[in-house]
Amino acid sequence: MKKILYSGAEAHLYLEKDRLVKERISKGYRHEFIDNAKRKYPTRKEFKILLKGKKIGMDVPEVFEVDDKEMKVVMEFVKGDLLKETLDNYSKKKREEVCKKIGIQVAKMHDNQIIHGDLTTSNMILKEEKVFFIDFGLGFISHKIEDKAVDLHLLRQAMESKHFKYENNFELVLKGYKKSSNFKETLERLEKVEQRGRYKRKA
Ligand SMILES: Nc1ncnc2c1ncn2[C@@H]1O[C@H](COP(=O)(O)OP(=O)(O)OP(=O)(O)O)[C@@H](O)[C@H]1O
Ligand SMILES: [Mg+2]
Repeated sequence: MKKILYSGAEAHLYLEKDRLVKERISKGYRHEFIDNAKRKYPTRKEFKILLKGKKIGMDVPEVFEVDDKEMKVVMEFVKGDLLKETLDNYSKKKREEVCKKIGIQVAKMHDNQIIHGDLTTSNMILKEEKVFFIDFGLGFISHKIEDKAVDLHLLRQAMESKHFKYENNFELVLKGYKKSSNFKETLERLEKVEQRGRYKRKA
């Protein structure tokens, strides 16, 4: 029997020995061909980006296997705190450090042309002072400033909606993001992105 750790709209996650298996589930209502394609693409993406992430020195789970028949990725189980649940409860000092580390890690990722696609604290785990990024199924490779700015915008939105208790979280993230070689340009684009309709921020 699989012991399901997490069951979402797209995937089941369970432990096999001490490894984590993320298996993208079939949606019965979709045509089999479409259903396969829709599961295969993010499964492969996740595997490839995790590999690349590790290679460039990001804190991501080690990835062991991909199986695009069963639509699974097997990776290291990162035993730590899911930031979505814990960020608000840290001391001021720890919260500041963690937010800055998030920014440093996004900078490294963007400087290596990886766009996460779903930057939220539900996809970040703090383990032994390191912030691990997970859930790269919506990730892609791009050198475009626009894509990096949108990635940051999604993070700002996630911070503001889930962690509204402290208003300066995203500013702290940007302190870390200063390390990016395109910091200025990306920030300018972020402002533009947010002025446009589609991504308009609530005042
Ligand atoms: N490598 C890991 N180590 C520890 N916990 C993990 C790991 N990967 C995922 N989790 C836990 O499982 C949850 C869901 O995983 P994940 O975010 O990858 O799936 P999801 O949000 O359903 O993905 P998708 O958006 O690709 O469908 C995470 O929020 C986290 O709590
Ligand atoms: Mg997730």
